[in-house]
Amino acid sequence: MSKLCVIGTGYVGLVTGTCFADLGSEVHCMDIDASRIERLKQGIMPIYEPGLEQLVAQNVKSGRLHFTSDINEALEGADFAFIAVGTPSGEEGEADLQYVRVAAEAIADLVDHPIVVVNKSTVPVGTGDWVADIIRRRRGGKPLDFAVVSNPEFLREGSAINDFMDPDRVILGSLDRTAATKVAQLYLSLRCPIMITDLRTAEMIKYASNAFLATRISFINEIATICEELGADVGQVAEGMGLDKRIGRSFLDAGLGWGGSCFPKDVKALAHMAVIHGSNPQLLQAVMDINRNQRRRVLLRLRKALGGLDEKVIGILGLSFKPNTDDIREAPALELIRLLENEGAVIQAYDPQAMDNASKVLTKTHLVKTPYEVAAGADALVLATEWNEFKQLDFERVAQLMRGKLILDGRNQWDADRLRALGFTYYGIGRGNNGNGNGN
Ligand SMILES: NC(=O)c1ccc[n+]([C@@H]2O[C@H](COP(=O)([O-])OP(=O)(O)OC[C@H]3O[C@@H](n4cnc5c(N)ncnc54)[C@H](O)[C@@H]3O)[C@@H](O)[C@H]2O)c1
Repeated sequence: MSKLCVIGTGYVGLVTGTCFADLGSEVHCMDIDASRIERLKQGIMPIYEPGLEQLVAQNVKSGRLHFTSDINEALEGADFAFIAVGTPSGEEGEADLQYVRVAAEAIADLVDHPIVVVNKSTVPVGTGDWVADIIRRRRGGKPLDFAVVSNPEFLREGSAINDFMDPDRVILGSLDRTAATKVAQLYLSLRCPIMITDLRTAEMIKYASNAFLATRISFINEIATICEELGADVGQVAEGMGLDKRIGRSFLDAGLGWGGSCFPKDVKALAHMAVIHGSNPQLLQAVMDINRNQRRRVLLRLRKALGGLDEKVIGILGLSFKPNTDDIREAPALELIRLLENEGAVIQAYDPQAMDNASKVLTKTHLVKTPYEVAAGADALVLATEWNEFKQLDFERVAQLMRGKLILDGRNQWDADRLRALGFTYYGIGRGNNGNGNGN
C-alpha cells in the first residue's frame, strides 16, 4: 500500500486525498489551518461538495484516511507528497507561490527517505523546476532521493468526486520518467488515459485547458451581445453550433460570465506569464474584458430599465460562482452586487449553500432565507446562479410579492413567454426576439 501525504486540505487536497484513500492508499491529509483539521476529525466538512462527507467518513472508518496539522507526522514514511495548497492571484495577476514554497521547504527540511513530490496545485510553467531547486538548495548538500512530478488537477467543484474517479485524462509531467510512472500507478484502477510528458508541458496543459474553456464562454457571450443587437437567440445559436462534432455544446452558455477560484486567476496568471516572457496575449486579454463586461452590461440594463438604481430594491438569486458549490471566490453575483450597491441599490439575496461564506464579505447586503424573501418588495429580480432550486419557482407568487415587474435572467434558465404572460418584463442574455434581450 502506498503512503501519501497531501499538503493543503482545501477543495483539491481534501477531494484528492479522500479519493486516493478510497482507491486503497494510506493517506495523511495535512493543513496549516488547525481548526479545519479539528473539524474534519469530527466529520465536519470545511466545504460543501456533494458526496464528500460520506466518502470521508467511510475512508476514515477504514483506517486509510487521516487528518493532521503536523507536517512531520504527515510526511513520515510517505512515498508521495502531494502539494495541493492555494495559488491565489498576486498583485500583478501572477500566481502567488508563497504557499508552494513553504510546502517545498518543509519537504526539504523533514524528509530523509526517497519521495516523489507531486505538484497538484495550478502553478506557472517552470514551477516544478523551481520546487526541485528549492529542495536541493535547502538541503545544502545533504542528499535526498526525490523527483518532482507535475499532476495538474482538472476536477470541477460540485462534481469533484466523480471528476476525480472518472477523469477524461490524467496528466503527468516530469524529467524523471520512473517517478511519473510511480504516480501513474496510483491512477491505474481508474482506467483513464494517462499522458506522461515533461514538467513544463504538463504545467502548460492545465493553464491552456482552463483558458480555452474560459474563452468558449467569453466567445458565446460576445455572440450573445451581437444576438441582442440583431434579434437572434443565443441559446439556439449555441445548440446549433454544438451539434457540430468539431465544436460540441459544452461551455457555450451565455450569461453573467465565468468566475470561481480557477478561471479568473488562471487566465490572469497565463496572461501575466506571457507578458513577462515577451508575448502579447491579445486573445486572453479580450477573454477577460468580455467577461468583466457581462456584469457591467447587466448593471446598465437594470439602471436603464429602472430609471436609476438609487434606493431601488434588487433581489439576487444565487451567490456561489456556479451551482452545487458554496465557493464564492470571484463569483459573478458578488461582483454584480458590489456594482449595484455602489450606485445605491438595496440588495436582498439568497443562495442554497453559500450564505455563510457570503455573510463574511457582503456587509451591506440583506441575506434572506428563501427565494421568495428575495422577491418580496423587489423592483427587479436577477438570476445570478442557476441552482436547481430556482428553476421551478412559483412565479405567480413571485409576481404578487415583488414591487416591480422586472426579471433579469442572467443564466437564460426561465421561460420568457410564460413570464411575460404573467406580466413580467423579461430580459435574458442574448435572447434576441424570443427572449427579448433588447426589451423590444
Ligand atoms: N478548486 C478547484 O476547483 C480547483 C480545481 C483544479 C485545480 N485547483 C488548484 O488547486 C490548488 C488548490 O486549490 P483549492 O481550491 O483546493 O484551494 P483552497 O484554498 O480551498 O485550499 C488550500 C488549502 O491549503 C492550505 N495551506 C496553505 N499553505 C499550506 C501549507 N504550507 N501547508 C499545509 N496547508 C497549507 C490552506 O490552509 C487551505 O486549506 C490551487 O492551485 C488551485 O488553482 C483548484
